[in-house]
Amino acid sequence: MTPDDEQTQPKPRKLKPSTQMMGFGYDPKLSEGALKPPIFLTSTFAFESAAAGKRFFEGITGKRPGGAEGLVYSRFNGPNQEILEDRLAVWEDAEEALSFSSGMAAIATVFLASVRPGDTIVHSAPLYAATETLIGKILGRFGVTWLDFPAGATRADIDAVMVRAKAGHVALIFLESPANPTNALVDVEAVRASRDAIFAEGERPPIVIDNTFLGPIWQQPLQHGADLVLYSLTKYAGGHSDLVAGGAVGSKAVIDPIRTMRNTIGTIVDPHSAWMLLRSLETMELRMTRAAENAAKVCARLREHPKVERVGYLGFLEAGSRQADIYRRHCSGAGSTFSLYLKGAEREAFAFLDALKIAKLAVSLGGTETLASHPAAMTHLSVPDERKAALDIGDNLVRISVGVEDPDDLIADFDQALAAI
Ligand SMILES: Cc1ncc(COP(=O)(O)O)c(C=O)c1O
Repeated sequence: MTPDDEQTQPKPRKLKPSTQMMGFGYDPKLSEGALKPPIFLTSTFAFESAAAGKRFFEGITGKRPGGAEGLVYSRFNGPNQEILEDRLAVWEDAEEALSFSSGMAAIATVFLASVRPGDTIVHSAPLYAATETLIGKILGRFGVTWLDFPAGATRADIDAVMVRAKAGHVALIFLESPANPTNALVDVEAVRASRDAIFAEGERPPIVIDNTFLGPIWQQPLQHGADLVLYSLTKYAGGHSDLVAGGAVGSKAVIDPIRTMRNTIGTIVDPHSAWMLLRSLETMELRMTRAAENAAKVCARLREHPKVERVGYLGFLEAGSRQADIYRRHCSGAGSTFSLYLKGAEREAFAFLDALKIAKLAVSLGGTETLASHPAAMTHLSVPDERKAALDIGDNLVRISVGVEDPDDLIADFDQALAAI
């Protein structure tokens, strides 16, 4: 092609992620023509030669830049995990991704890779209770301290916390948005602007965000200034409440040290769960779209009900409010997990939960079936009472994750459960 041709030739269309999920990263020719990747149940991989083994280990250990050239040992990598990671990165147009044995394994591996005794972690609040425990209680044993700001904090409030934190060494800034269980959004752009204003280049702590509730379909924080996006893949990505896994997505420079830590401690996902996730990613957009449509219908009904105090659903943010402004800039959809505040307290919430027939009474979210739970008594039971009160995790709060059932059946189920209070 001449330079002139290059200018007139149409550029090849970039395939959308939902199309790429059917085949990206897998060549059937390498596996007897199998349309779907086989599950590679092997703990180790045979080297073609001793020199090849040495070369692969140089990549694994970081002696030679560029990472592993081939497969070595299943604690480091494997075909199913590599295909999964390639496809996870596609959704967010990211350079690299990593898979983990759970969402908490992803979070813990990131902390272990970046935190040293005496460091400070700055975080938004609330966080998923196990993440709070990991930061406050477990890392606290190693002299790590934390400073937080509420999820909806303004730039000025975030600045104030960053300035205080800068007195020590800040290892990372950890966000969760929307927050579990309140659905409060964090202004990632403001956090980025604050970090860049307060910390000099070369000393800037990475911004890590747990994007489990909306990502990757309705929110892509790498585009808003985050450096690393984490997932409990157990939720929407897995989508069928039948596996536990985690993910991390970001640039190669940010991912590399986390991979080295994962290689050391062995928090990689197993090949079978990785395979199941490949199947799940093929329908992720379909499932999340249908669930979001259902949630919009269910929430519209719940909001009108006399026994409902309010519905913490991202589709109902008050026009002109700070939360609505963050939503407009960061989110392309309201998702399908929301908080339902009933009139009353624990008695009313428990009566409602016990009366549900289609929605299941279980923790977790993001599956094809609708789930309902009581954060104050279940997922966030370990959070001290005064902190729960400050974070709006009351006894009248029920968290609901809407699935892909028929919306009218779901509405009828919620109606009869409210009638039973
Ligand atoms: C926001 C959020 N982050 C992380 C986790 C932990 O994920 P996993 O249960 O896969 O370890 C959860 C689990 O509920 C969650 O809701």
